[in-house]
Amino acid sequence: MGAGVGPEQLVMSHHKVLNALDRHLALIGFMGAGKTTLAEEVAARIGRRAIDADRLLEGRAQISIGTFFAQRGETEFRVAEAALARDTFRQSPPAVIALGGGAVKTPEVRSTLRERALTVLVDVDVDVAWSRAKDTDRPLAQDEQLFRRLYDERRPLYSDVADAVADDADGVVLAAAGIRYELGGLERLGELVPGDGPVALVTDSRVMGIHGARAQTALGDRLRSTHDLPAGEAAKQLHVVERLWSELRLDRGGTIVALGGGALTDAAGLAAALYLRGIPWVSVPTTLVGQVDAGIGGKTAIDIPQGKNLVGAFHWPARVVIDEALLTTLPERERRQGEAERIKTELLAGRALDVRGAAAYKATLCLRDPRDQGVRQWLNLGHTFAHALEAAADFDLPHGEAVALGLLAALRLSGRDTKRVVAALDPKPVRVDRERAWQALLRDKKRSGDAINLVLLGDGGPYVEARPADEVRSALDRLIAS
Ligand SMILES: NC(=O)c1ccc[n+]([C@@H]2O[C@H](COP(=O)([O-])OP(=O)(O)OC[C@H]3O[C@@H](n4cnc5c(N)ncnc54)[C@H](O)[C@@H]3O)[C@@H](O)[C@H]2O)c1
Ligand SMILES: [Zn+2]
Repeated sequence: MGAGVGPEQLVMSHHKVLNALDRHLALIGFMGAGKTTLAEEVAARIGRRAIDADRLLEGRAQISIGTFFAQRGETEFRVAEAALARDTFRQSPPAVIALGGGAVKTPEVRSTLRERALTVLVDVDVDVAWSRAKDTDRPLAQDEQLFRRLYDERRPLYSDVADAVADDADGVVLAAAGIRYELGGLERLGELVPGDGPVALVTDSRVMGIHGARAQTALGDRLRSTHDLPAGEAAKQLHVVERLWSELRLDRGGTIVALGGGALTDAAGLAAALYLRGIPWVSVPTTLVGQVDAGIGGKTAIDIPQGKNLVGAFHWPARVVIDEALLTTLPERERRQGEAERIKTELLAGRALDVRGAAAYKATLCLRDPRDQGVRQWLNLGHTFAHALEAAADFDLPHGEAVALGLLAALRLSGRDTKRVVAALDPKPVRVDRERAWQALLRDKKRSGDAINLVLLGDGGPYVEARPADEVRSALDRLIAS
């Protein structure tokens, strides 16, 4: 197969976009599913406008949906609804749009959704839906039998047009970012990799021995080749990526599936970003760090002698598959690394988060700020200190331990309680050279004049603030054993 790009290959490379990064996020589903409320909640989280198509239509027609139905009939209503959908989905910037329960009956609405939106089915049980809808003035919720029949009729339509299914705000955010949180997802990789083109499986040598065979089986006929990279940080080297490129036999219709920890997904994602000027990739993180952090958000990178992550690209994965079952084989030492990032995420969110919730929180910030120019920097909470300690320890300090200490410093400078971090991570001061740590912190990029920019936590959530150098230095000193 040649690597030239003929018209045929352009067609093959036309992968459907499975995230809402630059598109509208449409919520569909039955009456009483909670689409309106979810649209508002998700829009607030990802910094977009929420639009409720039914309310908009009522505003335009100057009558309630119930009256519209009664006076002008369903057919005319569907025509008005489709016209409004057409207009709304043509507008930018991308919004979160809740559609009426029957909108997808109209073929034109379905094609508008396919072209212009990432569509999420808000799933609801028929009994729950009925209990919510029965005492409203919704025209199609006046008779229980009719309601239940409609529910059965519409289900196949919803599934046909939906790119993903969700039943809460985290689920919608995950879907918007192209993330599938699914226990046993590894076994379904063949279906979860978008499209039907060939796949190159890229994994690290250790993960290959543990989960590789199951991934290969799951990919079935689509598997074109398997490549194992050195385990851990050693994967993030240009010569490793270069060898991978030389081995790949994919055209632009192909997809790289990256199965491994953050180091592997960083390297394989970068390989995908540059191969043939960019082919799709799927991230399947196998570490806790990967599932709550590194596997999400499209930052890819390798290391050079001048520093970690200095060469990279933004290349959003076509899909992320988070399968917590993969973590059962993770050594305790590695799990602790991820715990530090999970606790960091809890502090940022201001509430307890499991793996799914932490992944959704990171996805939220990345959707709001895909290019890392604003709120995404919040994810650096504690990291200015962590990086300084790691450098002073010649990187002989696990990142998670450094982050745990860094979180202490950030909380202290924020005037907040450190109980949660102490209880969950129990950070102990490290023995490194104070002056080296301080010099490393000063070399870090987050400086403005004599003050140092830090992510801190307030009652209203995270914020970035410049703090005087001497305050920062004493916070750093407290993390170092004398
Ligand atoms: N791109 C991003 O946004 C981002 C964010 C955070 C971190 N990172 C990067 O992630 C890297 C750290 O990732 P990490 O902590 O996942 O480490 P890692 O990828 O180095 O993996 C750690 C070790 O765990 C092994 N392993 C992985 N999955 C396993 C499993 N399921 N069972 C048993 N062993 C398993 C690996 O073989 C490796 O030896 C760093 O390079 C960091 O720069 C990137
Ligand atoms: Zn980190």
